[in-house]
This record gives sequence, structure tokens and C-alpha cells, in this order.
Amino acid sequence: MKDLYELGEVPDLGYVPPKMYAQLIRPARFGEPRDAFQREVVEVPELGPHDVLVYVMAAGVNYNNVWAAMGIPIDVIKTRQKKGEKEAFHIGGSDASGVVWKTGRDVTSVKVGDEVVLHCGMWEHDDPHVVAGKDPAIAPTQRIWGYESNWGSFAQFTKVQDHQCLPKPQHLSWEEAAAYTLVGATAYRMLMGWQPNIVHPGDPVLIWGGAGGLGSMAIQIVKAFGGRAVAVVSGDDKVEYCKKLGAVGVIDRRRFKHWGMLPKWTDELSYEEWLVGARAFGKAFWEALGEKKSPSIVFEHPGQSTIPTSGFVCDTGGMIVICAGTTGYNATLDLRYHWMRQKRFQGSHFANDQEAQGFNNLVIEGKADPCLSKVFPFDGTGECHQLMRDNLHPSGNMSILVNAKREGMKTL
Ligand SMILES: NC(=O)c1ccc[n+]([C@@H]2O[C@H](COP(=O)([O-])OP(=O)(O)OC[C@H]3O[C@@H](n4cnc5c(N)ncnc54)[C@H](OP(=O)(O)O)[C@@H]3O)[C@@H](O)[C@H]2O)c1
Repeated sequence: MKDLYELGEVPDLGYVPPKMYAQLIRPARFGEPRDAFQREVVEVPELGPHDVLVYVMAAGVNYNNVWAAMGIPIDVIKTRQKKGEKEAFHIGGSDASGVVWKTGRDVTSVKVGDEVVLHCGMWEHDDPHVVAGKDPAIAPTQRIWGYESNWGSFAQFTKVQDHQCLPKPQHLSWEEAAAYTLVGATAYRMLMGWQPNIVHPGDPVLIWGGAGGLGSMAIQIVKAFGGRAVAVVSGDDKVEYCKKLGAVGVIDRRRFKHWGMLPKWTDELSYEEWLVGARAFGKAFWEALGEKKSPSIVFEHPGQSTIPTSGFVCDTGGMIVICAGTTGYNATLDLRYHWMRQKRFQGSHFANDQEAQGFNNLVIEGKADPCLSKVFPFDGTGECHQLMRDNLHPSGNMSILVNAKREGMKTL
């Protein structure tokens, strides 16, 4: 029994060494992700009664830890210290596959040796909102593991709550299994969580960033529930990519120039110009769909740049559902269309246990692919986040090998 194991050197099942390797972000290194992450040795965290320690085989890469690395818009370390946590570092990582290594006193849902994937929704077990049986995804104590919490998956061991553990799809390698849960479960809630505006057979759905992490999952969910996805992309290679995932049509956004905030209605000329662009985009949607029907759901995340168009093209009684503002948070909407056509503008953030399970089941059933495009070694954690920051990352999702010795391994 050793104090510290090298990556891929497996301790006896259930033996927890006191120390581990982790990719740490420290305040002094806030800035470009390639420099912000560095491998260090830290103590393995203690578990609470409902916690689970997972031996991480692979970790998934998400945009949230680009923000954590840069220390903007919030300093995640300082935020936690204000709440009483002592660690002066951040271990990010909100997606993982691995093996349950130790369980807290009151855990009954998983046992040591179980192969799992982890979803990133955390909430306090005794939160009155949760105890009352309300949706925990909107509980006051809800937070995202590996971003708002410490002890994420860019480490040999990660600490999660018991309900975050889902069965690992056996047909997937560790790195494939680590790639999809955050984006997949988020997309699942956006498309299937907001009754009555969910995907029904035949429904046309507009998906921004169709070749991205969220978009690639969204196309597959729409297809699985019988809807018709039209994806928006920039780039010729992404057109075929989206079609292979099941999009019935694809629009290249580089053909249009009317992006950005909505011009003032008093500014007649520029509003008219904007309207020409928005109408042309609506027409492009009908052409891509093969029918003159507008989207009943618009799957939004670019935000500021695209929201005016999303609001304009959304069908009467339809929903624009949004989980991010990657291009900016100043959403402008032509309210005249919004109220007269009785559209819904719905915020959505990650998922609850049922929604995360719902997406995981689609993967287990082979109806959704993780869309893994690139795999990095443990010390490439900074590099893959830098690619994401520079929008130079490939289509789909990226993973990092942590304790998995090589690509393609499916069991310990
Ligand atoms: N709230 C939540 O629970 C949650 C969960 C997951 C992700 N997010 C957030 O959602 C955002 C997207 O995440 P992701 O993993 O899908 O990222 P991603 O893999 O980088 O994909 C984003 C896509 O957006 C498209 N895009 C970029 N600039 C655009 C613009 N100006 N107009 C229209 N489309 C544009 C790009 O596609 P094209 O260039 O091909 O159009 C890109 O593929 C991030 O901000 C992330 O933090 C939030």
C-alpha cells in the first residue's frame, strides 16, 4: 500500500491512498487555460455520509472550466472560501467515467467496484426544497460539481454525491463514457423537460451550434423522439457531420449578416435591414426542413448574437429554450412578435436525476453517440481547454485519460 500511485497504477479495490495527482487551478495562475492548469499532488478528500469517492478513468471537457481557469466572470475559489471551504485551489472537471472506490456511511445506491458515469448536478440532501419533492435542479442548494464544487474529475479520485452516479454504458470505452453527460443531460432537459413544449413526433426544431457539444447531443435527442432537427453551423465540414447525426437539414450561418442586438424600432433603416436578414433566415429554415413550417422549439445558447432571430423564427405557441449566452448576455427580443404569437422564452440549466438518467438511457440503448472527437493525456488538460477557449476545438466532445492507461479500455 503506497501513499501515492502513478496514473494507471491501480491500488487494491477500495484502498484509498492519502494522496493523489490532480490538475490544479490556483488564483496566481488565473488566465489562459494552457498555463492555468498544472499537475500537483494533493490530499484525497474526506467523504460525507452521502458522498462517493470515484477512481477516475477518464474526464470530459466542458466550457465551464475555461471560465474557472480564467477566473472570470467569478473566482470560483474565492466564492467557495467565502462559504467556509479552506482549499486555496480548484480541481475542475464536471464529467467523468470511473469506478466507485469508497462510499459514505449512508450510501445505498452504489457499491465499491461499480462502473459509473457521473452527472454534475449537486444539491444538499436535506435542502427543504429537495425534501419536499420539488425539482432539485432549481433547489436553492443546486450547484455544478467540478465548477461550483471542488474535487472535480481532473484528478485520480473525485468526490461526488451518491445520486450523481449512473451506470456506465458497457459498450463504450472510458474516454467515450466520460464525454457526454454534461452536454447530453443539459440538452435533454431543454428538449424534454419543459412541458408542454417538448419534442413530439414530426416537430421541427432549430438547433444552434449543431456540431458543438450541446448541439450534437440535441440533434440526436430530437431524432430519438421523432422530431426533425435543423442544425445551424459555420463551416462546410460541419454540414455532413450534423446530417450523419440525424439532422434533416443544415443552415450555414456565414450566409447571413444580421447578427447581434436588435436595432431600435425607431431606427427604421437598420430595423428594415435586420428584418430582411431575419426573414431570409426563416426561409432558409423552411428550405432546410423541406416544408413551410417554423420551429416549435428553438435550442439556444449563443445568446446575444442570435436571440433576436430565434425569437422571430420561433413558431406561434413555440418555445425558445436557452442555457447560455456564449456571445453575450444582453438578449433583445421583438416583444410584439413574442406576445402576439404567444411564444415562450425559457431558461434551462443542467438537469435533475431523471433527466440525466433519461439521456444516459438513450446512450445505453445506442440511440445517442457521445460524439467523442479528440482524446488528451492527463497533462493535456490545459491544452484542450485552450483549444475550447480559442474555438479551435473539433466538432463534438473531448476527453482526457486520467487513470485509463490507453484509449479503448472498457473495464478496469
Ligand atoms: N447551463 C448549462 O447547463 C450549460 C450546459 C452545457 C453548456 N453550457 C454552455 O453552452 C455554451 C455552448 O456549449 P458547448 O459545449 O455546446 O460549446 P461548443 O462545443 O463550443 O459549441 C458551441 C457552438 O456554438 C456555435 N457558435 C459559436 N459562435 C456562434 C455565434 N456567434 N453564433 C451562432 N453560433 C455560434 C459554434 O458552432 P458554429 O460555429 O458551427 O455555428 C459552436 O460549435 C457554452 O457557453 C457553455 O458554457 C451551459
